[in-house]
Amino acid sequence: MSKCPLTLANGAPVAEDQNSISAGERGSLTFDNYHLFEKLAHFNRERIPERVVHARGTGAYGTFTLTKDLSEYTYADLLTGLGKQTQLFIRFSTVGGGQDSSDYARDPRGFAIKFYTTQGNFDIVGNNTPVFFLRDPIKFPDFIHSQKKDPQSNTPNPARMFEFWANSPQSFHQMTILMSDRGIPASLRHTHGFSSHTLSLYNTKGERYWVKWHFKSNQGIKTLTNDEAAKLPSFGAQQDLFDSIERGDFPSWAVKLQIMTTEQAKTYHINPFDLTKVWPHKDFPLIEIGQIELNKNVQNYFMEVEQAAFSPANVVPGVGVSPDKMLQARLLAYGDAHRYRVGANANQLEVNRPRCPVHNFQRDGSMAQNHLSSREQISDVNFYPHEQAHLATPSPEYTEPPLPILGEAWIKAYDSQHEDNFSQAGDLFRLMNADQKAQLVNNIAGGLKQASQLIQDKMLAQFYAADSEYAEMIKQALTN
Ligand code: HEM
Repeated sequence: MSKCPLTLANGAPVAEDQNSISAGERGSLTFDNYHLFEKLAHFNRERIPERVVHARGTGAYGTFTLTKDLSEYTYADLLTGLGKQTQLFIRFSTVGGGQDSSDYARDPRGFAIKFYTTQGNFDIVGNNTPVFFLRDPIKFPDFIHSQKKDPQSNTPNPARMFEFWANSPQSFHQMTILMSDRGIPASLRHTHGFSSHTLSLYNTKGERYWVKWHFKSNQGIKTLTNDEAAKLPSFGAQQDLFDSIERGDFPSWAVKLQIMTTEQAKTYHINPFDLTKVWPHKDFPLIEIGQIELNKNVQNYFMEVEQAAFSPANVVPGVGVSPDKMLQARLLAYGDAHRYRVGANANQLEVNRPRCPVHNFQRDGSMAQNHLSSREQISDVNFYPHEQAHLATPSPEYTEPPLPILGEAWIKAYDSQHEDNFSQAGDLFRLMNADQKAQLVNNIAGGLKQASQLIQDKMLAQFYAADSEYAEMIKQALTN
């Protein structure tokens, strides 16, 4: 095999890589150590900011295969044409821990999918839970602060978590799910995914449908207790996913939708855009539409996972958002995070790059690299409107049907404290068997015991509002 020369960043061969150049055997170093300087300087720049949430995770490539044509609801390319395959990338993550935390935290798992459709990238940036802790985005930074490490000790502090929840009853449903026996997935393959939010589909007639996406693990669900999780190596779930794909044991998920018409939404007793609530399956049954399989590992973790940039604003013709306030805020937050964390041209990186041509007049910026492959970037006309038949123009045929405003339209901050925060959590509790109830109560009491009497009392009022047995069991566990 021919020799592979070690080079500098400019491509020139390096003659010496083990000894710095010095004036005399004992030093000092000289200024012609450009190889040393380049090596140290690049090393200083190896990190980009970790994601402010969902910092720890891993990802893989795969395929979505459509098994039910959805032309009735949408003209989205990936959802029309029986048997159509769309390439995708999924990143799984924990939420609160930093990059060096454990894969086995009691925490929701991020389940972010990027579909590389022929009409652009469609991202579903969901979790492994059908609901979330909040229905109003203005609470998100406070919520995350309360769950992350204590700012003084830099260690987890369950008392602070419960201090937030005690004063934010809208978190109660998701808190119950998190503390249940489902709270620690045993692997990334053995967990479901959800859009959680209500998204939408619209068809060529301009009819819009509200849709929740579900990704049901074909491997089944496997979970861990706190004690089981504590015994596992912190990287175990990432290793498990990587190894299973390497050995050809490809994990897969059935893709299912719940679909609500805009007419049904007007009178349904649950606000369809409240992220703290599920749509009961008896009212809106799951419709299977396809299969996802993960079948290819990344070649370089930093390039493809760390720099992956998912955004709920990445929608494609035929797919839309909804008025969900949380989702609306996320439409802004993710692009902003990418510009800070990865850079203005994050979408030009291989993992983020649409697999269809990109034509626009967004120019230049840090690390711009695809300018020679885009007509708009090499033309002297770098603006729209223009008179150039070969340059990009908008496509009015893809105009979205207007989003309705449901309810009052006075502009003000609406207080949602009188929403029903407890019925669905109570229903969930009543579905649990005795062992599941015991696990739930122990998991909650372990943390809640560390909070003040005031916080415990406020939480107890919430447990009573959900189910009196739930409350009595917690009360008992707090005194043990
Ligand atoms: C107002 C509410 C929210 C805000 C402001 C917010 C903000 C963020 C930000 C800034 C990131 C880091 C993005 C990056 O650096 O690439 C992130 C990541 C993420 N968020 Fe949210 N988030 C919110 C709610 C949610 C909800 C409700 C879900 C799930 C239903 C969710 C799922 C995720 C996932 C899965 C990631 C990781 C994406 C990846 O793998 O790169 N977030 N979020």
